[in-house]
Amino acid sequence: MKMKNKKVLLFGRTGQLGWELNRTLAPFGEVYALGPGDLDLVDIDALIRTIHSVQPELIINASAYTAVDRAEREPELAMLLNEKVPMVMAEEARTLHAPFIHYSTDYVFDGTKTSAYTEDDTTNPLNVYGQSKLKGEQAIGQVGGAHVILRTSWVYSLRGDGFVSKVLSWARKQETLKIVTDQVGSPTWARMLAEATSAMAARSLSDSWGYFSEKGGVYHLGGAGSVSRFDFTRAILDLDPHPEEQKVKGLETTLTADFPTPALRPLTTTLDCSRFTRVFGLILPNWKDALRLAMEDR
Ligand SMILES: NC(=O)c1ccc[n+]([C@@H]2O[C@H](COP(=O)([O-])OP(=O)(O)OC[C@H]3O[C@@H](n4cnc5c(N)ncnc54)[C@H](OP(=O)(O)O)[C@@H]3O)[C@@H](O)[C@H]2O)c1
Repeated sequence: MKMKNKKVLLFGRTGQLGWELNRTLAPFGEVYALGPGDLDLVDIDALIRTIHSVQPELIINASAYTAVDRAEREPELAMLLNEKVPMVMAEEARTLHAPFIHYSTDYVFDGTKTSAYTEDDTTNPLNVYGQSKLKGEQAIGQVGGAHVILRTSWVYSLRGDGFVSKVLSWARKQETLKIVTDQVGSPTWARMLAEATSAMAARSLSDSWGYFSEKGGVYHLGGAGSVSRFDFTRAILDLDPHPEEQKVKGLETTLTADFPTPALRPLTTTLDCSRFTRVFGLILPNWKDALRLAMEDR
């Protein structure tokens, strides 16, 4: 079988996931990785010009408007970046006969289901961010082409200021941390999500358009298992490689209702990822095993 290197265009280079993808995609050949300093995605004409000038054979979008609370007061910007931009990327990808890989969120659900959500469950986002991501999914679906949408959840990285970094930082400043017990989800290490995305894409190398035309659609892909925010926090503190730096003496339980935020959060959003495993033969490790590995980087 004759193989050649792929030209991959990656958006969201500076984000938690995009940072990792920029590394895990390297073996594909030429990776054109763009962040906000290279291209402001609100400029749709510039986005189209960029895609035309790169002529990628695969487009991966790890960019998004992810400020969940701010989205409540900036709904137009959230919709532009989470609906219109991915739609345009999907259209341009279709024109170039290039598959399009995009990410969505567990926040498309309302969090009232007591067992894990499958891809066939009814969506009902509770906030603007979730609505904008769902509209993005729908817009990509309408464009058609060869696309994969990976719905993921509770993404963290030890770079940046995601939840894990925040807990480690709070633990060094405060004696008590108050954490909610009633939000339950599947924490996902950005590096593992990037590795799984790249392994999935690698399976398509000989005919990626045909491969993703056949296998495309919406998939759930988060860390295996589920945990409450409270128990996740306890695990982060337990696995902290520098516990001697911690000031924290105790964790206190609280409830989401006691912490009003501009955006409502869904409570239980465990993802059933078995469809992804069935179709692509890949699986993300249990959230705690991944967290242990992530902490070894600190
Ligand atoms: N984080 C989570 O817990 C979570 C959960 C479920 C699903 N997801 C989804 O997973 C994907 C990756 O999330 P993430 O956590 O890696 O997000 P992230 O860290 O917030 O990264 C998003 C990227 O998009 C860029 N971006 C935002 N607006 C832009 C603009 N106008 N022009 C150019 N670039 C722009 C950001 O630039 P800046 O660096 O300037 O911000 C950043 O590089 C997203 O689709 C997200 O919706 C995330």
